Order: sequence, then C-alpha cells, then structure tokens
Amino acid sequence: MKLRIAVLPGDGIGPEVTEQAVRVLREVANIHGHNFQFGEYVIGGAAIAATKSPLPEETLDACLAADAVLLGAVGLPGFDHLSSEQRPEAGLLMLRRALGGFANLRPITSHPALAAASPLRAEIISHADILFVRELLGGLSFGELRGIISQNGSSAAFNTMRYSATEIERVARVAFAAAMKRRCKVTSVDKANVLETSQLWRQTVAHIAADYPEVELEHLYVDAAAMHIIMNPTRFDVVLTENLFGDILSDEAAVISGSLGMLGSATVGGKVNLYEPVHGSAPDIAGRGVANPLGAMASAAMLLRSAALEPEAEDVEAAIESALNFGYRTRDIARDTGGQLVSTAEMGQLVAEAVAEIADMRYAYHAV
Ligand code: NAD
Ligand code: IPM
Ligand code: MN
Repeated sequence: MKLRIAVLPGDGIGPEVTEQAVRVLREVANIHGHNFQFGEYVIGGAAIAATKSPLPEETLDACLAADAVLLGAVGLPGFDHLSSEQRPEAGLLMLRRALGGFANLRPITSHPALAAASPLRAEIISHADILFVRELLGGLSFGELRGIISQNGSSAAFNTMRYSATEIERVARVAFAAAMKRRCKVTSVDKANVLETSQLWRQTVAHIAADYPEVELEHLYVDAAAMHIIMNPTRFDVVLTENLFGDILSDEAAVISGSLGMLGSATVGGKVNLYEPVHGSAPDIAGRGVANPLGAMASAAMLLRSAALEPEAEDVEAAIESALNFGYRTRDIARDTGGQLVSTAEMGQLVAEAVAEIADMRYAYHAV
C-alpha cells in the first residue's frame, strides 16, 4: 500500500516522540512491503521561527494533499506573550479546522504491566477501557465572539461557547457507531444544569440515540464525570463530550494508563485524518531524550488502522505491550520498581524490534 504521510514534529518533545513513531512506521513498511512516503513540515513555534506564521501555507497544502497527518505537539513558553491568533497553538487549531476532522478519538486503557505506574489503585483501574470521543471543531476554542476589551478604565475578556445541532449530531453518531463495536454504552458528558449549549447537546444526543437502540445512553454532568472517571473507570465505555470538557477529562483520565505520554489520538470525519498524541510539548523535559514516545506510536497505530492496515496496527500495539511487559520504562512510567529505564530513542528501537519479531511470529504461525 502507498501512503503519503505529512509529518509535523512541532515543538518541545514533539520532534523527539515523532521521530520514534516514524521509525516504527518505517519498520512496518519494510516488513510488509508498503510504500510510506514521509514529508516533514513545520508547525507551531518551529514554524513561527522559520516563517513568522504558526501554520505556513506550504505545511497546510502538504497536509491537505496527504493521506494522513502525523503531528507531535506545539507550544513553548517563549511564545506565550503572543496574541491568540499568533501563538503556536493557533497553528494547530487552524490546521484542525482546515482538515475538517470533528471527532477526536482518545482511547484510554490500563496496561496491566503499568499498574504500579498509576497513582490509582490497581483494583480500580484493572480492565479500564474508555474511548473518549471529543468534539474538536466547536465550543470555546472556536467561538468567534472573543476578545479583550477595556471597559470603565479596566480590562474585560470574553469567549463564547456555541454549538449547532448539526455539529452535535455528527460527533454523536461517531460515538454511537464506536459503541456498537465495543460494549454498547455511551456516556454523554455536559453541564446541562447551567449551560444552554449543554441543554441542546443533551437533547440532540438523546435524539440520535433513538437510531442506536442497542446502545445504552447515560448523561452525566461534567463535574460528577470528573469524579466517576477516577473512582470507577470501568463503568465507562464510550465518553462523548464537547471540546473543552473532552480536553480536560482525557488528560485527567491519563492517570488510568500510567502517564499522559501513553495516549494517542485520531481525529476523523474531515478531508484528511490527523493523528497526534494527547500530550503537549512538555517544555519541562524537552531536549533531554526522556520523553515517552508510546503515545505518538499509539497514534501511528491508529493511522494504520484507519488506512485499513488492521494487522499492522495490531502489531504496533502488541509491540508496545511487549516492550512494557519486558519491563522497559521511560522516566514517566518508571514509578514501579524493577523495570529498566530507557531513553526516548531506546524505547523507539525496542518497539521497532518488537514489531519485526511479532511479524515474524505471525509469518511462522501462518506457515505451519
Ligand atoms: P504537556 O502535556 O506538555 O505536559 C504536562 C506534563 O506531562 C508535564 O509534566 C510533562 O513533562 C508531562 N508529559 C507530557 N507528555 C509527556 C511524554 N510524552 N513523556 C513524558 N512526560 C510527558 O502540557 P503543558 O505543560 O500544560 O503544556 C506545554 C505546552 O504544550 C503548552 O504550550 C501547551 O499549549 C502545549 N500543548 C500542546 C498540545 C498539542 O500540541 N496537541 C497539547 C497540550 C498542550
Ligand atoms: C490538545 C491541546 C490543544 C487543544 C491546544 C494545544 C490547542 O490541549 O490537543 O489536547 O485545546 O485541543
Ligand atoms: Mn489538551
């Protein structure tokens, strides 16, 4: 299979983890005889430094012409003084809007080998397996009425949260369809006791649910959901929620998997799908070779799955599990004792080698 993949490493640890995800994808291509073509482009702070724009035209054009986009992370404290539309983060928001993917899928599972890396007790997280379906193109981040004004000699600032029924319907359908392939439960999270956007959200989701009678629908308020996710994560299957709630709850739920560095994501529904780890540029650890690349690799596995390369996706996921089962740990997941501490690049090499071994075993199994 031929795939053109636009690679946008971005800022901070973005380039470090993306390099390892690409290494694993190259290994997959070698083993299976696929033709993956990687083109690298700047975004975020790296793009501002090179071109003054957080999303240069060349990058956007390359992404729109690609089969898939693999992104690291954007943002660095050195750019924090810039206005909202000039910041590195604006580059990512503009890219998401241009690609058109409105459903951001963030799977969160507890890895048995990492039980001790989580601050939550093993019996609480055991068998947790949640798919967050986060609406990605609406809500406060994209509300057009926004700004900072002066009023009576002082400053005031405002953002607006807006959702149309159409925007809610399309992401709800993604969540229900995903639940049909899983454990047939959708938990819709909102703040319908206070916000009109959430009242429309709840009403619209309930309406769409009628098309999926096999799926059980529950509604939770976001504050209570934040507590239930930590207290009893196994009660959840698919969590459907708006942009900002999904942003916050998925970072919170990362503790189930042991580290934010473990989580990958796929953004679907637009012209070109976007794959990126859930974490940011982690300036506190950037440049030291200690970042966890497994979230970026999990995103690469999701890319393979969307490209109808299911066995290849499963091999990458199995290779990640294998590296963890053998006790290899980047610093963020090394809380349990007895494992072997490895760098970002060493973890990349270990997973790439495991991909090759798993593919060999698969070949041997089919040969007998
Ligand atoms: P962050 O996700 O970058 O980091 C939060 C914490 O998790 C830090 O302690 C960091 O060291 C740790 N961490 C994150 N990823 C890790 C990994 N792969 N391995 C090991 N540890 C990891 O969030 P932040 O510090 O609040 O934000 C830093 C910058 O990243 C900001 O400029 C923010 O706007 C940006 N950001 C970008 C994205 C994105 O590009 N999708 C997402 C979130 C934040
Ligand atoms: C994320 C990030 C982004 C978001 C920021 C950096 C624009 O937090 O991908 O989770 O808000 O979506
Ligand atoms: Mn986030």
